[in-house]
Amino acid sequence: MVIPPGKFLVGPLVFTGPCVNKEPIVVQIRGTLLSASPDELEDTPMEVDNWIQFYDINGLNVIGGGTLDGRGAAFWSHDLGDQGPGLPVNVMFQKVTNALVRKLSSVNPKGFHIGVVQCNNIRLYNLRLVAPEDSPNTDGIHISRSNLVKIANTEITTGDDCIGMIQGSTNISIKKVRCGPGHGISIGSLGKYENEADVRGVVVKNCTLSNTDNGLRIKTTRGPKAIASQASSIIFQDIVMHNVKNPIIIDQEYNAQNEVNPSPVKISDVHFINIRGTSKSPVAVQVGCSKKVPCQNIQFYNIILDYVGRPVKSLPPVCTSTCSYASGLSYKGIQKPPACH
Ligand SMILES: *[C@@H]1O[C@H](CO)[C@@H](O)[C@H](O)[C@H]1NC(C)=O
Ligand SMILES: *[C@@H]1O[C@H](CO)[C@@H](O)[C@H](O)[C@H]1NC(C)=O
Repeated sequence: MVIPPGKFLVGPLVFTGPCVNKEPIVVQIRGTLLSASPDELEDTPMEVDNWIQFYDINGLNVIGGGTLDGRGAAFWSHDLGDQGPGLPVNVMFQKVTNALVRKLSSVNPKGFHIGVVQCNNIRLYNLRLVAPEDSPNTDGIHISRSNLVKIANTEITTGDDCIGMIQGSTNISIKKVRCGPGHGISIGSLGKYENEADVRGVVVKNCTLSNTDNGLRIKTTRGPKAIASQASSIIFQDIVMHNVKNPIIIDQEYNAQNEVNPSPVKISDVHFINIRGTSKSPVAVQVGCSKKVPCQNIQFYNIILDYVGRPVKSLPPVCTSTCSYASGLSYKGIQKPPACH
């Protein structure tokens, strides 16, 4: 299928398999698709979860250099923040296997830019995801219950997480992504629901975060859940931060005002290697683990972060680390800020 250059008003679309294809199905988007509202296009349903969805397809290439414009601005309710309704995802890949998504732009989605749910072996390369810094819940790429996801050479400027990986994200590789403004690269929240699947095997390499709220974050909620997921085997390596508020943060008390039980999610084998740049806040490294299941084997190797937000510029650019319930922290090489303990 080829969408030629030009501008096209398009209501919600679902492409559903399974398909009888030996070769990948190719969708080439060269033009600009504009998300239509019911008053603009007949038979456009009001409430949908996704604008464009690919479902249950084995072998799919979505390529072409085109743009998907969600025209979200009129739908963003800035008052609701995280409590806001789930607005349509610009492009959702669900139960898609063996896929390549390459050279596409997503602009101003109503909800997330791209969703990856229940996928296996999907590569997302050379994407450009753009929305204003203050647009609520416009995650760049949101991954759940998927294995083998590779993201590379991608630029993300948005209002929420550049990349979010929640339950069941396994064997994820993120390379050469430029993120910011936005909320950074996040694992979680985890621990919200019973029977969540684990997050395991995440590698984030050669990425740059600029003017983001968080840099590299793992967040889990407090809660009484007995059967919780775990997050393990995570490597963050060769990352550059520019003016990031919380460059390294493990937060196991995320959004937990009214909940007294500590987070049941166990975090282990997390490696921060060669992380350098600048922090906008004085606490550049925060490791806030769960009292119930303390973090295990968190390694820091060559961390060089300077504090740029200091009120008196003549003070040295020193920042600090805070740690709680983090047994088995280990440090090698340079540590700026200095290690906890
Ligand atoms: C992730 O990759 C490893 C190594 O290739 C493999 O053993 C494991 O089964 C994969 N995880 C899942 C959930 O498929
Ligand atoms: C990743 O970053 C490291 C350290 O800056 C650099 O040596 C390496 O060449 C980079 N790799 C790629 C593929 O750009």
